[in-house]
Amino acid sequence: MQTASHVQAYRAGLLHFHADPAFAEQAHAWHADGLLIVAAGKVVAAGDYAQLAPTLPAGTEVVDYRGKIITPGFIDAHIHYPQTDMIASPAPGLLPWLEQYTFPTERAFQDPAHAAAVAEFFLDELLRCGTTTALVYCTVHPQSVDAFFTASEARGLRMIAGKVLMDRNCPDFLCDTAEQGGRETEDLIRRWHKHERSLYAITPRFAPTSTEAQMGVAGELARAFPDTYLQTHVSENEDECRWVKELYPAARSYLDVYDRYGMMRPRAVFGHCIWLDEQDRARMAETGSAAAVCPTSNLFLGSGLFDFERADQARMLMALATDVGAGTSFSMLQTMNEAYKVARLKGSYLPALRMFYLSTLGAARSLHLEDTIGSFAAGREADFIVLDPQATPLLARRTANTDSLEEMLFALALLGDDRTIAATYSGGRRVHARGQK
Ligand code: GUN
Ligand code: ZN
Repeated sequence: MQTASHVQAYRAGLLHFHADPAFAEQAHAWHADGLLIVAAGKVVAAGDYAQLAPTLPAGTEVVDYRGKIITPGFIDAHIHYPQTDMIASPAPGLLPWLEQYTFPTERAFQDPAHAAAVAEFFLDELLRCGTTTALVYCTVHPQSVDAFFTASEARGLRMIAGKVLMDRNCPDFLCDTAEQGGRETEDLIRRWHKHERSLYAITPRFAPTSTEAQMGVAGELARAFPDTYLQTHVSENEDECRWVKELYPAARSYLDVYDRYGMMRPRAVFGHCIWLDEQDRARMAETGSAAAVCPTSNLFLGSGLFDFERADQARMLMALATDVGAGTSFSMLQTMNEAYKVARLKGSYLPALRMFYLSTLGAARSLHLEDTIGSFAAGREADFIVLDPQATPLLARRTANTDSLEEMLFALALLGDDRTIAATYSGGRRVHARGQK
């Protein structure tokens, strides 16, 4: 029986990034016949098979994935695990969708057994789609966080998650208070942050569902625990933006509400960021905050189109994200497919290489985790996936006549989904193999 400390090697096409292809000439490394060497759950080396194979210890098994492509595992920068069972629930926009489907569905997470069962299904689904790290919203119930991290640690995954804070404009059964939410968050930080591979995210749902007192508490926690994450929603929907203006009349903008409470900082991740202005974008960049870009959700709810060009002009950190259950797919490939079309509708263009960057190293940089995950630099955690260009008859036919890496990746992004993921590895261990339970 092999353990994670044995040297393991994988032969395939290898793709990873060391820079952002939007700003660097040669941002990626591509080894058409590559070898990835892993030991003790970490990357030892990645390069050409012909160069690296002779360095392997005698007797090392080489897993043969020739014809397939290995990349770092996908990172989903914004997803709600409790909304798994309500994905694809129709409503005329964000606010009615929250009322009609989201809040009643989240109520059930007061039951730890229900939370545990949904967490297991959710993690299965992420791994089937090749997502090895996600920034996850739980519900207002602390037990929903315990259930989530218990399940993700049992699989050895690197996950970031937190308890939703909300103390107004929500049903009584989902309401905490500034004091209680703060205390529960602090307890959860002490229990889970940096425990095994878990990381904690302070999670005020969005400005309309927190009182000023609770926003103050969230900001204080963000200052008191600077290496935790902070996640929330901002400028997703125009009705929501109008509502925030009424609730916080003194703020310059919706994003400024969070800024005033000290919530903009490295490891703060703001979902959506559609209706930002130039000053907002400059603040995002200045503070090291990141945008989670959620195209399937934004198209599904009719929220709007993220402006990739302006975000790049401001040098904002950003990452792609599903936002399930408003997002309509767990697959980051399907998310790239929709991101590409959103960019086109805004008159800009997202190459496939950029979309793979924004789902791997770019996302790791947005999370300030680039020394840990997101590439195959030596010492990174060995979270990787095996993409199969022959996964479906159509993909096989299309990819048989692509002329470049860009064309191949583009076909995978536009036509791919969970079927495209032949295998998923986390910390050097296989955690999903297509066709096997
Ligand atoms: N804004 C506040 N809560 C939510 C949520 O659960 N999903 C989305 N898409 N937007 C939100
Ligand atoms: Zn969301």
